[in-house]
Amino acid sequence: MTEQDFILKSYNSNIDKGSVKWASPSNIALVKYWGKKAHQIPENPSISFTLSDCKTITEMTYIKKDNQGFSFDIYFEGEKNEAFKPKIQTFFERIEIYMPFLKDYHFKIETSNTFPHSSGIASSASGMSAIALCLMSIEKELSVPESDNVEFQDYFNQKASFLARLGSGSACRSIEGELVVWGKNESIVGSSDLYGVKFEGDVHANFKNYQDTILLVDKGEKQVSSTVGHQLMYGHPFATKRFAQANDNLAKLKTILASGDLNAFIKIVESEALTLHAMMMTSMPYFILMKPNTLEIINKIWAFREKTDSKICFTLDAGANVHVLYPEKEKDDVLQFIKNELANYCQNGHYICDQIGHGANQI
Ligand code: DP6
Repeated sequence: MTEQDFILKSYNSNIDKGSVKWASPSNIALVKYWGKKAHQIPENPSISFTLSDCKTITEMTYIKKDNQGFSFDIYFEGEKNEAFKPKIQTFFERIEIYMPFLKDYHFKIETSNTFPHSSGIASSASGMSAIALCLMSIEKELSVPESDNVEFQDYFNQKASFLARLGSGSACRSIEGELVVWGKNESIVGSSDLYGVKFEGDVHANFKNYQDTILLVDKGEKQVSSTVGHQLMYGHPFATKRFAQANDNLAKLKTILASGDLNAFIKIVESEALTLHAMMMTSMPYFILMKPNTLEIINKIWAFREKTDSKICFTLDAGANVHVLYPEKEKDDVLQFIKNELANYCQNGHYICDQIGHGANQI
């Protein structure tokens, strides 16, 4: 598929109003997207676990209007929100060419998250993917009757992911589950820089219902926005090597997912997280996004792994919170360990239990 394939050619302009609603999950990258080119094209491929319970629920109501220009209101958790408007405005501008009906309607966007607003969890992936899916449902309603066949469903998901990417890169990995690859990589057939694709390789039973407990070390606003973070990879002294390494790690992970080798999985995943942070520490300007408690937690996880034969490991976003990943069969033991030894390092003792999920749902 190319960009051209996603341009809606004709639509029914007699529909006056309607409403659609989606729940779309967050995701956690195993191989990280960090660095992008123009038009939200990633510098390297990434792969993520789709989450199950950390979701954004978005309802979009559309009403025909006359005047030119984009028109929309956003309500976040029941209250009108002006802060999100510029991001959505930019998003609409980027996607207008693919959705020529956008200026024909006023949109009321009502959105809420299943996770606490002030948890410091990035909501751009779930948020932008939910909006992209709502827009796709509207496109479907305005389209000349399409059969609900498999090809159309594939197109629907691909275009939803394509649009979500233009809102926020990582959002394109939130449409489907359980593992999604975004970015061209030789080892993944069908992979694309334009949208995420469901990982269709073999996945060993060890990874079934893989658990992710998110330790909320710092619930504040992100110190560095991801937009700024990605920009720091321009001219970064280690950029070329890093992008090559991500390609390599993805190819290795494909084999590991099939074999179920959890020790090898841990090495890639933890190294990816630390590399992401190393990139931030070695850019100009430089940033340390971990907090002392992030390091305390990492050391405790390593000690626990040493002491028991647990396959627990960690990954990080571009912030201080820690995602603790572990096989389902270790759930009871690891949760006990988190409660006893890690919760102390979380702000107000807060953490969120989640697991690998199947993707977004229309409601
Ligand atoms: C560290 O997707 O938030 O979470 O495309 O600028 O919206 P934009 O960036 P964003 O970057 C996420 C980066 C990351 C790693 C990842 O999810 O792969």
